[in-house]
Amino acid sequence: MANTKLNKALNEQIKHELDSSYLYLSMASYCETINLDGFASWMKNQSIEEYEHAMKFYNFLHERGAEVELLPIDKPPKSFGSTLELFEKALENEQKVTKLIHKLYEAALEENDYPAQVMLHWFIEEQVEEEDMVRTIIEKLKMVGTQGAAILMMDRELAKRGE
Ligand SMILES: [Fe+2]
Ligand SMILES: [Fe+2]
Repeated sequence: MANTKLNKALNEQIKHELDSSYLYLSMASYCETINLDGFASWMKNQSIEEYEHAMKFYNFLHERGAEVELLPIDKPPKSFGSTLELFEKALENEQKVTKLIHKLYEAALEENDYPAQVMLHWFIEEQVEEEDMVRTIIEKLKMVGTQGAAILMMDRELAKRGE
């Protein structure tokens, strides 16, 4: 079970999830600097979820006695333009992660690794939900616009997450 191609890719996924966590944290920080506390709070929640995703892969590898080797994580951008651009960047990142999860699943099929397939089902569904959630926010931002009162209304709505 130790050094399969899949285990190596699962270990790399820890880094990709932490990259996402770090990206959302940077987005949160950007939102704080432009005084959008609701947006910032939404991003912080998302950052924590991505950390939890990383830990699911970490725990799965340890449970099967496979090696965990933490890889360097990427430096995220510091500023993101409008709130619409912010969520478009988030969607782009989620779509990238979805592709990675699908690749992991393909490797699990190739290696007849049934426990990994079961574990990855959760991630396949989670990615559908996350992309949908981000896409809905993008559509709402396009609807209300990214200026003035509309953005304050969105800020209040996003603040509700995690209440
Ligand atoms: Fe994730
Ligand atoms: Fe995600």
